[in-house]
Amino acid sequence: MECEEKIIQLIIKKKPYLIDFLKDKKLVKYKHAINDKFIDFIFEDEMYRYLIDLKFRNIQVSMFDEMDKKASEYIQQQNLTEEIIKKIIMVDERSYSEKKLELDEEASKHNTDILTYNVANILADSMFKGYVPDIKAPLSLLKNAEGKAVILGRTPIEQEKYGDRGTLYIGRICERVNEYFGLRVLVDAMHPHKIFICGKTGSGKSYTLGVIAEELASLDINVGVVIIDPMGIFWSMKFPCSEREAEQLQIWGLQPRGFTNVKVFVPIGYYDRAPEGTKDEIFAIPPNELTVEDWCNTFGIDIYESPQAALLTDVIEKVKKGYYAEIDGSQKFITSKDNYTIDDMIKCIQQCPEFTKKYRTDTIRALTTHLEAAKNWGIFSTNGTPIQRLVVPNQVSIIDVSFLPDFLRALIVGVIARKILEERTKYVRYVAAAGIQKREEKKDKDLEIRGIPATWLIIDEAHVLAPARGKTAASDPLVEYAKRGRMPGCALVLATQQPSATDDRILSQVDILITHNLSFTDDISAYRARAPSLLPMEICDQGFIRRLPVGAAVIADQSITTERAFVFYVRPRVSEHAGRVILPETFKVETEKETKAISLEEEKARAGIEEKEVPINAPSAPTLFVPTKIAIDYLSRVIQYRFFDYLQPLDEKRFLKNIIFTWSNTKRNIIGMLLGYLSRFAANVVETISVNNELPVLLLSKGDIRLVLSGCLTENDTVVALYLSSRNEQEIIDFMKHLNRIKEEIA
Ligand SMILES: Nc1ncnc2c1ncn2[C@@H]1O[C@H](COP(=O)(O)OP(=O)(O)O)[C@@H](O)[C@H]1O
Ligand SMILES: [Mg+2]
Repeated sequence: MECEEKIIQLIIKKKPYLIDFLKDKKLVKYKHAINDKFIDFIFEDEMYRYLIDLKFRNIQVSMFDEMDKKASEYIQQQNLTEEIIKKIIMVDERSYSEKKLELDEEASKHNTDILTYNVANILADSMFKGYVPDIKAPLSLLKNAEGKAVILGRTPIEQEKYGDRGTLYIGRICERVNEYFGLRVLVDAMHPHKIFICGKTGSGKSYTLGVIAEELASLDINVGVVIIDPMGIFWSMKFPCSEREAEQLQIWGLQPRGFTNVKVFVPIGYYDRAPEGTKDEIFAIPPNELTVEDWCNTFGIDIYESPQAALLTDVIEKVKKGYYAEIDGSQKFITSKDNYTIDDMIKCIQQCPEFTKKYRTDTIRALTTHLEAAKNWGIFSTNGTPIQRLVVPNQVSIIDVSFLPDFLRALIVGVIARKILEERTKYVRYVAAAGIQKREEKKDKDLEIRGIPATWLIIDEAHVLAPARGKTAASDPLVEYAKRGRMPGCALVLATQQPSATDDRILSQVDILITHNLSFTDDISAYRARAPSLLPMEICDQGFIRRLPVGAAVIADQSITTERAFVFYVRPRVSEHAGRVILPETFKVETEKETKAISLEEEKARAGIEEKEVPINAPSAPTLFVPTKIAIDYLSRVIQYRFFDYLQPLDEKRFLKNIIFTWSNTKRNIIGMLLGYLSRFAANVVETISVNNELPVLLLSKGDIRLVLSGCLTENDTVVALYLSSRNEQEIIDFMKHLNRIKEEIA
């Protein structure tokens, strides 16, 4: 009896969710297992590879899959008696149906029933949410030594050399192909790949990028990871995923996990505004990192045609080398400066007498205006972030560019991509030249290269940065990076909604292509044209890609061992994916008017607000399925980044305060209630804005006070973020008192 219990415990410990699932389906009664007459048990280690049926009366364990020795070893370790071990029947899953007869016979001998259940169905139901496409074309892929995973982006020799080390576990095959169904999909990370992820909005691109980032963050192969984050969502990788996701994770046999080796960089001009907990370091670029081309692309001036470009070239050369300036009628030599500021450049334009002869006044004025504006971009500092700080072995550096306009994001990406490629190329050449000599032994000052590790550069929403038509400051550096990155170890992962709108010079370098759901014919065609391996007819059919559910994707890679593109299901994230909060379909806003009307009445009654005071058209608070802490951060960020100009106009000095209110229950009409109260204090709504289609943000004013508020619900709480500013500090303090009183009343 003791042994039976041990087996049961082993099963329960390893896959408790499976038991729940089976209980649900009335397939097991494990609670009374020990005393029950019969018990049928399905157990697996790799989820789909084997089953153990325990027969309690006669203690019979059938293990399906002789390849998995682990379980039998474990059973042996548990000191199960000889007798019981003898009764373990090992069966390969593939020959299961043949063996079934045999087993049945065995069972009847022992007066037991053997319950059989198709494991594939369990998998399909729980892991792939029922999505198991049937594709006829033959499939052959490189498997790992155990035969339980397929590897992309590696040759068989490389796989033999590394084993599963240095691979990214991104999901499992969900196609109904006997030999491959349910196998894990691993992507090589030992070599610098160019991975391209496409899919329409909400199809799961950022999520998949997040999975790749998580995998890179858990590897220990000394690569550096840099994520360009245009939505401000990757910071949440630091947090384990919320309870809601935990169930799905358990089905996949994964544990929630936050990552500590993640650093969030926020551009210098925005750092103070970013909420605590979502930022770690300041990011800045020194103006001297910019080439004439960068400046021109960013200012939107033609480098070949515009006289401003010529002037800019002269200015940069002069500040670098030193020049004679005319100051108050006398000549003065301005010494060369390598680490120059934008002010140095402006001074040079104004003080260098040559320029007034060479260029027209409006050219000089236009360039000066451009440079003056650049000072306020919030990204420059002569103490730029050294690339060695950004690219660190086994660290994920997130550059949060969510509040910058596209042209500045492009500039940052361009500068970073160029710098990484440059440093890596220098380093690789240096190491090659130094030969076997150790780096430390080399004394040559010229070759003082600290070096950065091989790098994975990950960019979300890439079509904005490297568009098919037109050029940004990121276009050429990214093309160069993609083209020349292999030798120096520069990997690239891009995600985009529109493959057809993305620079083809980059697409042509891609060796691994993942597509989620696409809906436009242009995009589907662009995808098909670029797929690096054969696409079977079924997948080629436009309808197939249009019907891919969230989480599923088609993957194709260049390796000769990959016979064709195939369908897989992306694994759930172990860390928090903040992206969900900004996507409309993930909001559960009750749209039925009835529910709204009732709750409105109720809330009003409870809050004691008179009918006329509550604006009927007040937006209701959407529900964000994230931990309250993350919701608070999100609201704060939306307000600070997007509406800061309202709170703090450039030409005024204002005092700024913010408060967060949370109530530990649901108040869907919280915004309406607050508006009701605020109108008593003569606060006027200036504007109501819906951010990302769903999150309501209200701009209000009262006298000199400007107020921005937004609110949402989480699973258990109601959250409101309020920011207010005024030139008069006392006025703010007084108003805060009112707000606190309102909060109490609403409680
Ligand atoms: N593999 C997945 N498993 C479970 N949910 C997913 C998966 N991929 C995406 N989702 C859900 O779909 C939403 C949209 O995904 P996201 O990656 O943000 O879309 P986009 O393609 O616009 O970047 C996410 O918030 C997440 O909740
Ligand atoms: Mg996205």
